Formats: sequence, C-alpha cells, structure tokens
Amino acid sequence: MSGPALGLYVHWPYCARICPYCDFNVFRDRGKRAEQLALKDAILADLAAQRALTGPRDLTSIFLGGGTPSLMDPDWAGEIITAARSLWTPAPDLEVTLEANPTDAEAARYAAFAQAGVNRLSLGVQALDDDSLKRLGRDHGADEARRAAATAAAAFPRLSIDLIYARPGQTPEAWTAELAEAIALGAEHLSPYQLTIEAGTAFDRAVRRGTLVPPPEDLAATLFEVTQEVLEAHGFHAYEVSNHARGEAARSRHNLVYWRGLDYVGAGPGAHGRLTLDGARHATEAAARPADYIAHVAETGVGFITDEPLSPLEAAEERLLSGLRIEDGVPFAELAALGLTPAHPEVAHLTELGLIAPDPLRLRATPQGRLILDHLTGRLAT
Ligand SMILES: C[S@@+](CC[C@H](N)C(=O)[O-])C[C@H]1O[C@@H](n2cnc3c(N)ncnc32)[C@H](O)[C@@H]1O
Ligand code: SF4
Repeated sequence: MSGPALGLYVHWPYCARICPYCDFNVFRDRGKRAEQLALKDAILADLAAQRALTGPRDLTSIFLGGGTPSLMDPDWAGEIITAARSLWTPAPDLEVTLEANPTDAEAARYAAFAQAGVNRLSLGVQALDDDSLKRLGRDHGADEARRAAATAAAAFPRLSIDLIYARPGQTPEAWTAELAEAIALGAEHLSPYQLTIEAGTAFDRAVRRGTLVPPPEDLAATLFEVTQEVLEAHGFHAYEVSNHARGEAARSRHNLVYWRGLDYVGAGPGAHGRLTLDGARHATEAAARPADYIAHVAETGVGFITDEPLSPLEAAEERLLSGLRIEDGVPFAELAALGLTPAHPEVAHLTELGLIAPDPLRLRATPQGRLILDHLTGRLAT
C-alpha cells in the first residue's frame, strides 16, 4: 500500500546578487558551473534516495524555489522534473512551479523552462517603480519586470506575482495604484508580502543605524487592509494571509501542501521536508551550504542532516501555525494534542471577539483574526 500523496520542494540557492532584505538560504552566483553541475547531480541522487524512504506515492506538486532557480540551466530543471515524475506517480494535474526573477536575460529562457515541464511561474516583481526597486537592491527595473510578466503570461499556463509592500515612505494611495498596475500584468495569483526586517540582513543593520525607517505599525496595518480591499474588489480572494487567487484553480497547490500539513520531500541546500514514515511525522533539514550538501549526499545518499520524528505536541503546534494562515483553517481533530476544541475557553473567548469563526469542526481565523495572527497563535499555542 502506498503512503499519503506528497509535494516536492527543490532549493536552488544561487542569486545574481543578494538583496538587502533577504534571509533565505542564498549564495552569490559566481558562475562556478562545475559546483552547480555537482549540485544538480546531488539533488538527483537525493531524490532517488528519498524515494526509497517514502516508497511509492502520488506526487501533486513540484516547487523549484530559491534563491533564483530561473538562473539554472533549463535542461537541468527538466532533468529534475523528469526524475521526480518517474520516481513518484505524477497527479494528472501535477503543478510544477519555478521561482523567477524578472530580468531580460532570464525572461529569454522562460520558454525553455516551459518546455522542460514548468507549468507555473512565480515571478518576483516586488515593486513597480524604479526608485523602490533600487532601494530594495533589485537588479531589474520596473519596465523590465513588466516585460518579464508579459513574456511569462504567454509562456506558462499559470502565473503568480510576488510584491513587497510596507516599504519605507509608501502611502496607501501609492500602494493602491501599484496594486492596480500589478493586477493588469495578467497573473491569476498575487502574493503581496509585507516587508519584514529580518535579523542579520543589511536592512536590519540600516534600521539599527537609523538610515532605514519602516512604516509605523498602524500604517502597515492600513496597507494590509488596502491590499485585502483592492484585491478582493478585483476578484483576487485571500485564501491565505499573503496569497490571493482568482478562482480555486489558481491557488498554489504546493503551498497548500504546507498549510494543510501534508507530506513533502525537501531536496537541495537547506531544504526542509515533512514526511509521514511508519505512522510518525518526520521533519528533515538539509545541509545549508552547497558544498556540504553535495558532500553529505555523496556520503549518506540523502542531503538531510537532521531527521527528527515530531512529538504529537510539536506536530499539533505546526498545524496550528500553518493552518490558521488559510481561510479553511485546521480541523480540531488535528489539534487534539493542544487540547483545542470549540469549547476550550480561549477558543470560545476569541470566537466571541470575532477573531475565530464559529465552526464546530475546524479552527478558523476570521479576516480580523488573520490581521493579528501572531497574537492569536500566541494565545492558542499555550
Ligand atoms: C525567496 S524569494 C525567491 C524569489 C526570487 N529570487 C526573487 O527574489 O524574486 C521569495 C519571495 O519572498 C519575498 N521576500 C523575501 N524576503 C522578504 C522580506 N524580508 N520581506 C518580505 N518579503 C520577502 C519576496 O517577495 C520574494 O519574491
Ligand atoms: S530576494 Fe530573491 S534574488 Fe534576492 S537574495 Fe532573496 S532569493 Fe535571491
């Protein structure tokens, strides 16, 4: 008998330049083709070794993320996709997403990625004015991003666009106009992320020096509300805190794997995985540096350096944190280890306040609740 269906996340860690706000597992692309070729081969070996662990499973999504996987040789992306499709059983509507940066050089290769089996592009537009892009340290201008979106809309059946808001100096009026412009780019999925100042980044250091001033909390909250209103008015429904889709089919099947607590294989430097093995949910994490990852695969077959079975409490906490992000919430049955039921005093109190929806089967945050998600999860996790 085969185990539960799974998604696959593959991390490609190289970037042309490192953005000052980013704390993902990224490395400057110094054009070391031999190392990159070795990394691609290590990822292929890792996939085969993890297939031996999972046994036969249905595969519902592949996500090539980064870093900047659009810098990868499209033939290599094709090899990874082909390998995954043959190791597991691809769903008829298998979603294959590639994260891409919108430079002219990368847009010229979108068609080759589509040919390689990518059917959804997640494009990092971030902003639609040159001044903001420069301050975000991006290596593309607004016109370049507009051209890339047009090329992507023609090359792929599905397109998602990432934006960053709550940038220093941004007004609700300017953000409203920028959102309208982003909508016109032709994507059926938009992910506007509020700028987070991550510890250890160049932006973090600039905030400490006083040379970068993020908007105050109330303005950031207003910008979040503007986002919900403008996108909802244009038919982009907020099915998750920062993810909006025009219609159910446009939702990210891969990200829903995370938010619904389903299984996924993680491969590539620093990738995380969650696998149900012999009835227990395992958390895996790969070596972060490309050279370490390659060496670990050569030594042990797999790329992960940790493989921990989660306790029922840890698994339930994860379900709470990810499940409350989506409007569908999380079944109470999956939160039993936390003692959460509709009758739990904290749940009942938050329901009275209109932050949790009255639902006997699922714990669901209301739109007001999702505005203060950290507060909600803080009160429910203890
Ligand atoms: C890991 S990046 C990969 C995408 C691609 N390399 C790019 O930069 O366009 C995924 C997305 O995370 C978002 N992101 C990264 N750091 C962020 C931060 N500090 N605050 C808000 N959003 C962030 C950006 O919108 C970005 O498109
Ligand atoms: S935001 Fe994207 S391009 Fe910039 S460093 Fe992070 S992963 Fe790389």
